Amino acid sequence: MPFIIAIDGPAASGKGTIARALSAHFGFHHLDTGLLYRATGAKGGDPVLAAQSLCADDLTGSGLRSAEAGQAASRIAAIPEVRAALVDFQHRFAAQEPGAVLDGRDIGTVICPHAQVKLYVVASDRVRAERRAAELGADPAEMLVQLQERDRRDSERAAAPLRPADDAVVLDTSTLSVDQAIALAIETVRKAR
Ligand code: CDP
Repeated sequence: MPFIIAIDGPAASGKGTIARALSAHFGFHHLDTGLLYRATGAKGGDPVLAAQSLCADDLTGSGLRSAEAGQAASRIAAIPEVRAALVDFQHRFAAQEPGAVLDGRDIGTVICPHAQVKLYVVASDRVRAERRAAELGADPAEMLVQLQERDRRDSERAAAPLRPADDAVVLDTSTLSVDQAIALAIETVRKAR
């Protein structure tokens, strides 16, 4: 049976960095599920049709990491039919040997509720805004407003809202260096193997 690591958390909390590091350390496949929603939003047109016809090429589009693409993603991510169209792809990805790391908003709660390890990565609003502003070369105050708006939408939606699974280990990266956060995540996975 493949080993599954589910990583969820709000925008810019550090979950992508941790997911990439865990996949490299343990030799597991990695899927940034946010890209599925970003690519669906970026296709334009009917979001349900866009999700149903999503292909690998769509995930490499330039501009998918922008703040605008993030906002568009969180709008279409609230549509249950969009989420349903993306489930199979995520399940097939998670079934790969020897294991997979998936990061997103609903991996531990909806997509892979049987994951052997669930991490819920958080950080203070200020730290998250500063990190994302540095990544995108944007203004931290503007990023703060955008992240909070997106978190609110993601948490308040009826379909697969952002929340920690009951059995998730919460990892607060606010005061941790990247190396410290990765070391703690590796230790958490190691204990569960
Ligand atoms: O990197 P960041 O945390 O800012 O965002 P992302 O993971 O790329 O996700 C972009 C948006 O897609 C989120 O704000 C969610 O609305 C949506 N999303 C989701 O609903 N479910 C997932 N599993 C992943 C992302």
